[in-house]
Amino acid sequence: MSELTYDYMENFIYNTLLADKPLEEQLKLYQNSADQYEKMCDVSLYNFHKILANEFSSLALPRDSRILDVGAGTGLFGRMLHKLGFTNIDALDACDEMLQCAKESNSNYKNYIVAEVSKAKLLPVDENTYDVALMAGSASPAHIDVEAYLQIMRVVKPGGIIGWIIEDAETCVKCNTKFQNEAYQKTLEKFVLQNLWLPVDGYNPKRVPNALLNRPGDVYFYKVV
Ligand SMILES: C[S@@+](CC[C@H](N)C(=O)[O-])C[C@H]1O[C@@H](n2cnc3c(N)ncnc32)[C@H](O)[C@@H]1O
Repeated sequence: MSELTYDYMENFIYNTLLADKPLEEQLKLYQNSADQYEKMCDVSLYNFHKILANEFSSLALPRDSRILDVGAGTGLFGRMLHKLGFTNIDALDACDEMLQCAKESNSNYKNYIVAEVSKAKLLPVDENTYDVALMAGSASPAHIDVEAYLQIMRVVKPGGIIGWIIEDAETCVKCNTKFQNEAYQKTLEKFVLQNLWLPVDGYNPKRVPNALLNRPGDVYFYKVV
């Protein structure tokens, strides 16, 4: 791999990582960079995990809520949640190499689940298992498709929370065709109209500064019906 500089990461994230591609190809990128992932986060000023953990903490849910960290990667986000007092977190990711790093880094997860979140694949988790499901960095363009959020809704209990942070809408449109014509926002709203979930006040999105590469991010929280 080339030297990890800010410019290299900016080009890699916007022109490769977030660009249109099949999920299989995306997961290969993570397989090949798992051992470098946290260094890449540092260089690219990645703060998704910190921001989402703090926003989630402000909802003041019980610290023993059963949480699914969806796209847990090497456990950066899980470690933030644990620092904030959350004790009951499972990790799910399609990339075994990333989860192996999480296991080796004292991420304090109770269970590790290797599974792909895709619209047409049933997650290997019973329905209504979790109080909360969160995505830090895994809801980004070319990662978990918005239509696949239905799979996440299935495993969260009625009244439970689904939350995530994603690049600001303008960046998403520039990087990935699936975000054109407000398709992302329209699908989130479709789920509201289908009475699958309700927006949590103050989000959807809440724009936050300095999320990644000095750009803002958008934070979302919905309550499952
Ligand atoms: C940017 S990393 C975020 C990791 C961690 N949440 C963090 O904040 O550092 C995205 C993770 O999502 C996983 N991922 C991407 N698409 C996925 C999918 N469709 N199903 C499951 N995991 C996926 C990748 O393997 C990767 O570990």
